[in-house]
Amino acid sequence: MSNKLDKRMIIKMISVSIIMLLVSYSAIFMLVKQVVEKESQKNMVQKARALTVQIEHVRHYISNMVADDVFDPGLLVEAQKYIKRKDAKSKEEIIKIARLTRFYRTIPIVSSWTIGQGRSPDSLHQFRVVRIGARNQKHEALPTEREMLEHMVKEDLDEHWIIDKESNSLRYMKAIIMKKECLICHGTEEDYPAGKGYDPLGIKMEGWAEGEQRGAFEIISDLKPLQETVRKVQYDMIGIGVLMVLILVFSVPVWFRMLQSKDDQ
Ligand code: HEC
Repeated sequence: MSNKLDKRMIIKMISVSIIMLLVSYSAIFMLVKQVVEKESQKNMVQKARALTVQIEHVRHYISNMVADDVFDPGLLVEAQKYIKRKDAKSKEEIIKIARLTRFYRTIPIVSSWTIGQGRSPDSLHQFRVVRIGARNQKHEALPTEREMLEHMVKEDLDEHWIIDKESNSLRYMKAIIMKKECLICHGTEEDYPAGKGYDPLGIKMEGWAEGEQRGAFEIISDLKPLQETVRKVQYDMIGIGVLMVLILVFSVPVWFRMLQSKDDQ
């Protein structure tokens, strides 16, 4: 075999090696990105799920306390008198005034979301209670949230999460299901005949039924830290890739020299 042929062969071999290296490395690069992203998202969902489970427990706990008459029934009368004294008429006014009463704090759903809000004080995680047709405008579902809530009803899902590109966040939702104890306020006139269509606080009842999904607890997690981690892994991989190619390229003259010395012998 001539020296010239050997050189050509080696150049071909090296080129093929570099191409193969680049292709397989790019594939690994993409795979690592996907795996890191998927695992981190799974982690975020698990954390959000764990938090909503805790919040649900709070609701059950307070509900049981209400059912066991732990709270003084006089608290409702006190709240009703206070709302009347303050002459609160509209839904917004009643909610604002009711919030200042002791009774308000004994509403199980209120206790649970208050704790939920307290558990997510950092700017990376946000806790929300959302609903279509909310009593409180602050809780009204935004278009993306509305879609999620509707999807959950349509598919009969207890939880649902999406990547929201617009806010660059992962939105996790856990359905809030109407229970019998909720109907005195959110149900029909039959559930609270004394109110004639208004709940004990004087807010118009929604007419909802037991078992219906009427909102969700939502955890909104910022995706920026995850993206930074992925980027860091990518930069590290690019660094290693460049190093590998450089080693390969710089080893070429060594290969030639080795071949030369073999030929000379
Ligand atoms: C004593 C009346 C009362 C009972 C009982 C009650 N709620 Fe409510 N609910 C309210 C009031 C008042 C608000 C608005 C409070 C606020 O925004 O501060 C509200 C708000 C909500 C919201 C937030 C969305 C919105 O409309 O602003 C959800 C979700 C909700 N309730 C679900 C439930 C569920 C589920 C139950 C039963 C486990 C329940 N509620 C029992 C009075 C009640």
